[in-house]
Amino acid sequence: MAESTPASDAAPDAAPDAAVVGEQAPAGVAISALHKAYGSNEVLKGISMTVDPGEVVCLVGASGSGKSTLLRCVNRLEEPNAGTITVADHVASDPDVDLDAMRREIGMVFQQFNLFPHLSVLENCTITPRRVLKQSKADADGEAMAQLRRVGLEELADRRPDQLSGGQQQRVAIARALTMRPRLMLFDEPTSALDPETVGDVLAIMRQLAEAGMTMIVVTHEMTFAREVADRVVFMDQGHVVEAGPAAQVIGNPQQPRTQDFLRRVLDPTHVDLDV
Ligand SMILES: Nc1ncnc2c1ncn2[C@@H]1O[C@H](COP(=O)(O)OP(=O)(O)OP(=O)(O)O)[C@@H](O)[C@H]1O
Ligand SMILES: [Mg+2]
Repeated sequence: MAESTPASDAAPDAAPDAAVVGEQAPAGVAISALHKAYGSNEVLKGISMTVDPGEVVCLVGASGSGKSTLLRCVNRLEEPNAGTITVADHVASDPDVDLDAMRREIGMVFQQFNLFPHLSVLENCTITPRRVLKQSKADADGEAMAQLRRVGLEELADRRPDQLSGGQQQRVAIARALTMRPRLMLFDEPTSALDPETVGDVLAIMRQLAEAGMTMIVVTHEMTFAREVADRVVFMDQGHVVEAGPAAQVIGNPQQPRTQDFLRRVLDPTHVDLDV
């Protein structure tokens, strides 16, 4: 069973944002010996990791290392070939898992927003609570407006996605996920498709969510965000976890040569200790 309160290591000033998580206790995730192949291409080669309730873990690694596949296995958008995954008390890797019940507890945010183009911002945020949770229009509208207010977009509720900037669309995607009161949020490169000037607004929302005690797994190349917000960083390479630990350690003082190489390539040069 998950704990009934957010993890105590959330930011001490988390109270004002605690409504983001609502009454839902954050979920933990446990992944053990996970294998996934596409045909003969073995993509995940025995991944084991845990995420405690309320913890923020950033997944980093080169293109093709299996980060998206790992995230997608967590909510069973992909079927693992072997290994176990549990999310709160759902065994995600069990072929008989109640997928609808499990996915109700997991919010996912993608690089490309995936908003419905023909629906307003508000309708994008209410369609799933109305269909899946059978909420009344009034309840769904109220919850959606509260989440849109949280991401600073209440005023734009009547617009269509194509009338918003990329950063605004991504904030809608986050608000939409939050209307389902998830216990775990998965982010797959949420800022990679954004113009640089809108990246900060999205990261600020994610930081608030982290401080409110949400469990988060975040695939990102934003190393400053990872260093400042993640409790732990997991570095993946070619389907393996090469190095994992506190963010300051893995990013600030990586031990493995492959982690060191990767960080040298992605970090802003002004942040790298180039003592070679
Ligand atoms: N649906 C699929 N069918 C076949 N191969 C796939 C599929 N999805 C991913 N792959 C392959 O799996 C490997 C890992 O892909 P994945 O998208 O998980 O990597 P990634 O670490 O997220 O990379 P990126 O940083 O580019 O997003 C790649 O070789 C990719 O081509
Ligand atoms: Mg990816």
